[in-house]
Amino acid sequence: METPTIDIKRGLEGVIFTETRLSAIDGEVGKLSYCGYDITDLAAKASYEETAFLLWYQRLPAGSELEMLSDWLRANRRLPKVVWGIMHSLPEQATPMEALRTVASTLSMFDRACVHQEEGGSSLCRAVSLTAKLPTIVASFDRLRRDRPPIEPRADLGHAANFLYMMNGEEPDPVSAQALETYFVLLADHGMNASTFSARVTASTLGDVYSSVVTALGTLKGPLHGGASQRAMEQLLEIGSAKDVDAWFEQQMAGKPRLYGFGHRVYKVEDPRATILRQLARDVAARSGNTQWYDLAARLEERVLAHPYFQERRIYTNVDYYTAPLLYALDIPIDLFIPMFALARISGWTAHMLEQQRHNRLIRPRAYYAGPRDLAWNEMIGREPMVEAQPDAHCVAGRPANCPAALEVPPRF
Ligand code: CMC
Repeated sequence: METPTIDIKRGLEGVIFTETRLSAIDGEVGKLSYCGYDITDLAAKASYEETAFLLWYQRLPAGSELEMLSDWLRANRRLPKVVWGIMHSLPEQATPMEALRTVASTLSMFDRACVHQEEGGSSLCRAVSLTAKLPTIVASFDRLRRDRPPIEPRADLGHAANFLYMMNGEEPDPVSAQALETYFVLLADHGMNASTFSARVTASTLGDVYSSVVTALGTLKGPLHGGASQRAMEQLLEIGSAKDVDAWFEQQMAGKPRLYGFGHRVYKVEDPRATILRQLARDVAARSGNTQWYDLAARLEERVLAHPYFQERRIYTNVDYYTAPLLYALDIPIDLFIPMFALARISGWTAHMLEQQRHNRLIRPRAYYAGPRDLAWNEMIGREPMVEAQPDAHCVAGRPANCPAALEVPPRF
């Protein structure tokens, strides 16, 4: 049968499936805004709480309204007692992102505070609860794995400062707290990125807020999305010092390069968040007295942007690049970089769920079927095995070597 000509968008690029009033991105001029407000203004003027209000209510709050939301968030920072049992029983090899995804999911079974409110209200209530609790999970998990007791949240500190306090047990200096606050604001929302899309798909089935957030966390974890800042830092650590940048870069360019922290599906100029994060990373490094990683990042960026390979493909610095030296200078362990992204993006994810619920239509695209058709049924007895039988091999949980290879990827794929 002849294959019809179909324009398949494997990455859904250019496909518009809904409208949103949350964030707008102009990838040609490098502009990002939330509900009409430019990210540069928000980064300079808004707190994370104010940004979350903007996304959830699609307007800026009055002073008293911001105070109410901040109180609501502060009141929700503690984890239910039962959840501590789960936190303590996580296996040693659990990564922070696995821990976050797992504990966020279990919270749904212990959070009954929102169930009696009206439909939209209960979703917002759960969004507030999760936004407040995610930092407690991440900071406490990090302390527990280092054999340190978790630290109770402090109600007199803002969202970002409280997180740093729960990580270190000390009130952060104002420069560090402000830098993290700005990072949270910059990453709160970003159009129809992969994790937000997946959150909306789950919301469109009328799934609950917890399910949507867990879906989004799973999507964020991949190295082509939230994992890129961790990879960008690993890249810098691998290079080691600014004097080794040139040799490392030449070596990458000799093969098929994939440099983390560069390139974007939408931005074909510099990501406006990268511009702000570059400055922040520089300030925090200068304040700490250790500019090694910032200097290295700046040198590598110079080489990348000057190279025709990147210029021809319109590849520029993205949000994850300077996130790496910034979070590193804030003493955030590199395997917490993806959870840090989640702590910021949770307000955007949940704002998108609320928006999806308000104008819901089940999201259900189609795929072009490219497999065989109309095959005649073969009785089992007539089927030829594709893999030799292994009479002594029995599939035992935890010993995959004994499982028949046929149960893994079929050879013809
Ligand atoms: N390093 C080297 N080459 C690259 C890079 C890069 N970072 N990004 C794209 N290219 C090349 C790619 O190899 C391809 O070349 P060719 O045409 O010769 O095959 C061309 O540029 C187009 O790339 P693509 O992968 O088709 O473009 P995309 O729109 O699917 O890629 C991207 C977007 C973010 C997946 C990609 O730029 C990338 O892998 N970057 C590195 C990972 C990274 O930093 N990710 C964070 C993205 S920003 C945060 C977010 O939105 O979540």
